[in-house]
Amino acid sequence: MKLSPKTTSAALSKTDCLIAFGVEGQKPELPKGVGLPAKALDEFDGKARKTRACDPTRGNPARVILVGLGKGKELDAEGLRRAAAVGLKAADAERAKGAAFHVGPKLAKLAGGSGAVGQAVAEGALMASYRYDLGKSKPEARPLKRISVHGDGADFKTGVQRGTVLAEANLFTRDLQNLAGNQLTPTLLAERARGLARDRRSISCKVLDEAAMKRLGMGLLLGVSQGSEEPAKLIHLVYKPKGEARGKVALVGKGLTFDAGGTSIKPSRGMEEMRYDMSGSAAVLGAFHALRDLDVPYEVHGIVPTSENLCDGKATKPGDVHVAMNGKTVEVINTDAEGRLILADALCYTVEKVAPDTIIDLATLTGAVIVALGHEMSGCYSTTDRLRDALVEAGQATGETVWPMPLHPAFDENLAAGPADLRNICTPNMGGGSIVGAHFLRNFVGKTEWSHLDIAGTAWNQGSRDYTGGSGGTGVGTRLLIEYLSR
Ligand code: BES
Ligand code: MN
Ligand code: ZN
Repeated sequence: MKLSPKTTSAALSKTDCLIAFGVEGQKPELPKGVGLPAKALDEFDGKARKTRACDPTRGNPARVILVGLGKGKELDAEGLRRAAAVGLKAADAERAKGAAFHVGPKLAKLAGGSGAVGQAVAEGALMASYRYDLGKSKPEARPLKRISVHGDGADFKTGVQRGTVLAEANLFTRDLQNLAGNQLTPTLLAERARGLARDRRSISCKVLDEAAMKRLGMGLLLGVSQGSEEPAKLIHLVYKPKGEARGKVALVGKGLTFDAGGTSIKPSRGMEEMRYDMSGSAAVLGAFHALRDLDVPYEVHGIVPTSENLCDGKATKPGDVHVAMNGKTVEVINTDAEGRLILADALCYTVEKVAPDTIIDLATLTGAVIVALGHEMSGCYSTTDRLRDALVEAGQATGETVWPMPLHPAFDENLAAGPADLRNICTPNMGGGSIVGAHFLRNFVGKTEWSHLDIAGTAWNQGSRDYTGGSGGTGVGTRLLIEYLSR
């Protein structure tokens, strides 16, 4: 779907469905020349996410949809994203050909000003246009072809453009997430990463194959992959800013294109959902999708270990010991705790070959984080308060909420209590499964400032946010990372 910014004076076309907003207790803000039936205006109460559709009595648009914003004082970017999404879905349901959003001068003063308002409306509308039909032989034809967001001024236009870039990156991430295990193998994921670098001078990509990983001593990553016919890959994307870089940030994403659990095989019920076990990697690739079109002042590295976790005769067995790139030995007690293993080698690689100032990893690491935080918040573990606060703030700004989680030395002791340097899980009576994952990973970041985001609850199957949610991937992480990098 195409989204374009327009000035308020740009005439709406006859086929467009106009989407206009109003706050509680006030008339909706309409563009000049558009009149509505008195009944529709009376019935519209401005309550958040409530809509009222009508035919205009005056003006060009074929149809008008009014969307409530709730109380003006309480309106924030997330409220606007959701209102725009509700409007877009209503226009889609009316089988409109175009959806034209009107941002009048009153609305442009709310929720952070015209730039922020333009961005939020563009993000919400475009993200809500996503359809998950990657498996259909004949996707349903859809009349809605274009979205425009109309408002005044240069800030507004820049905001809409930024919102478009971020929403397009979100859609790219969701497509990657939603592809089935046989539609997106590690090899194909690496192809997608190469595609991001193809026509951009600011981005480069290299892909390490299993032979290269073996030379580097990545015994943990290869140990996960050895039960699968599909070769593992290590993707390394680099973004370089135009001027001198203000610092170096590494984004590391778990890329299990399918996680059956390995020898410690998962129950079959719901196993198809483990196609989403590459959501961390999808967030990292999505961030590079956005970096293509933004001026971010940091050098950014995207490191993605990607493999399958299956269980043939060569697969790792519980109790097997593998050696990580940094020389640490790991007893694999449970082959289903594989994300931390492939990430461990990717983190060693990042520290040794990239030497960044900061590492942020994203992973659908544990079911336990869903027990702790549900589907609305990603768990965030950090070695510095600065990084934790920055990610929490980026979460607030994007609606991709991040919640601080603790670390505690008792978990280190338990992880180290077996016959190898580490085991990949704690004894079951420790509890705190998501914390255990974070502690395991911390063994591989050295002294580098680091955050780990456990996104197992937020990456898919979220309750409806209007612009995302339902059964598919949410694209979580992509907008969050760009927000972090832009601050
Ligand atoms: N990919 C899963 C985590 C997961 C589970 C994500 C459910 C989303 C929903 C991960 O590889 C895994 O299997 N973790 C195990 C760890 C356990 C064996 C210590 C888990 O959470 O059960
Ligand atoms: Mn697993
Ligand atoms: Zn997994």
